[in-house]
Formats: sequence, structure tokens, C-alpha cells
Amino acid sequence: MMAAPFDEAGFRALTAKISAERGFGAANYKDGCLRRRIAVRMRARGVGTYAEYRELLDRDAAEFEQLLDALTINVTKLYRDAEVWEAVAATVLPACWARTGPLTIWSAGCASGEEPYTLAALLHRQAERTAQPERLADARILATDIDRGSLAAARAATFAAHAFAEMPPALTARYFSAAEPRRAADELRALVHVERRDLLSDPPPAQGLALITCRNVVIYFDRPSQGPLLQRFHDALVPGGYLVLGKVETLLGEARRLFEVVDARNRIFRRVAA
Ligand SMILES: C[S@@+](CC[C@H](N)C(=O)[O-])C[C@H]1O[C@@H](n2cnc3c(N)ncnc32)[C@H](O)[C@@H]1O
Repeated sequence: MMAAPFDEAGFRALTAKISAERGFGAANYKDGCLRRRIAVRMRARGVGTYAEYRELLDRDAAEFEQLLDALTINVTKLYRDAEVWEAVAATVLPACWARTGPLTIWSAGCASGEEPYTLAALLHRQAERTAQPERLADARILATDIDRGSLAAARAATFAAHAFAEMPPALTARYFSAAEPRRAADELRALVHVERRDLLSDPPPAQGLALITCRNVVIYFDRPSQGPLLQRFHDALVPGGYLVLGKVETLLGEARRLFEVVDARNRIFRRVAA
């Protein structure tokens, strides 16, 4: 049996609808990834064509939400990829902390908050280890994402037990309530500021950043969107500021001139001076 030809026009009409009606710039995401995720939703609803699925979205707002959820891929965990966080704690945060003046960190694509709260715990521990807790008053972790549902969860700052699977027990016990869902301590909540931002169309939330973590996000964007985004990251960082990407992400093309490699295995880079 021959496979049915791919309905390119139908696919484009659907992604245009998603962008126009929900402000999710689907055109900038990798097609393969979008197609797989849309196919999952279409199968779940027993719909065979893109045209039928567009009609379904028109009459079923809950399905539109489910689709956006599927497209934004909100999978995350506290201390995800522990080795990366060990490296961040050992080298990146001490270097950021050694700078004078206010310290601003950006967790870009923060999903439901596990990444910025991991950063907050490590930063707080850094302040305690250096006996400079008062400096935390000048520190901020800006947590941004495009997905409103995830941002609401990030604001709540409570996490289910499975989110802690990779976090060292001592950090969990020190910074999160014992009762489930475990709530981040007030000292951490004071550090984290949650805000909606589209990485593809909005400017960074601040300039002069010491560190940007953008993990498991860039991989979903098509190549033409990645270059300008990495340029915006470069410009928002202080010279020598750090960029941490996800374990399977890397710098492509021109972006390799904007950053030097600090730790290739853990995808840690530093803005070159220029
Ligand atoms: C797989 S999660 C990564 C979460 C976290 N950084 C981590 O590594 O565990 C990807 C996140 O990127 C967000 N995202 C996707 N496109 C985005 C965009 N254009 N602007 C901002 N966030 C976006 C999604 O909503 C999702 O929360």
C-alpha cells in the first residue's frame, strides 16, 4: 500500500491558524517536530486530515489548548541533567557571584519553574557558602516562557515528588517544604520573577545578564530562528557572561563566533568580549 502524500498546503494552513489565533509562531519551529506532535493530537481525536482538524479547533477550545500544550513540550525537572548543575555550581555561579554589583540571571524557556528554582537553590547556597547572604537582595532570576499554563505553575512554585528525582536530597530538604506538593522556600521565591515572553519575537527581559540558561528549547526552533536568538543572548549578557544550553543543543554557524566553549560536554559557553 502506498502512503498518502503529505498534505503540505493543509499543514501550512494549520500552522498559520495556530500562529494567527494563538500567537505561537509555528513557522519558526522545525517542521518534523510540529508534524509529529500534531499527528499525535489528530490520532487522539480520530481526525484524518489537517482540514478536519482545523475545523475541530474552531469548535473545541479545549482541543486548541491541548494542541498548544503538545507543541510547547513542557517536560522538565528540578536539577535536570545533574552533571550540568554540578558544573554550574562549581564554576559558573562562583564566577557570576564574584562580579560586583547586582546579579541578574535569565532562565529562558523555564516551563513550570523547575529550572529557575534549581538556579535559585544553587545561588542561595552560593551566598551562604561565601557568607554573603545580604547580596541576595540584589540578585534576580528572571524566568520566562511562552506557555501560560506553565507560567502559572512556575508562579505557584510547588512541585510534585517526581520533579525531585535528580535533585540532591540535601538541597531538596533545605529549600522545599516536606509536605507534598513541595513548596519552594520563601528565600527562593523572593529571587524568582516569572514573566511571559516569546523568545522568537520579544526582547530579552533585561540586559547586563551574568548568566542565561536556555535548555531544551532552541532545539525545537528551525535554523534561521536560532542565529538571531543566539545573537540576542550574546547582546544581553555582560562580556564573559555565561550561556548554558541543553545537553543535546549546540551553537551553529555564526553563533560559534559569539561564544567560547567553557565545558563542551555540559554545553556551557561564555560570551566573548566583543
Ligand atoms: C522542554 S521545556 C524546557 C524546560 C527547561 N528549560 C528544561 O530544560 O527542563 C521547553 C519550554 O520552552 C518553551 N518554549 C517553546 N517555544 C518558546 C518560545 N517561542 N518562547 C518562549 N518559550 C518557549 C515551552 O513552552 C516549554 O516550556
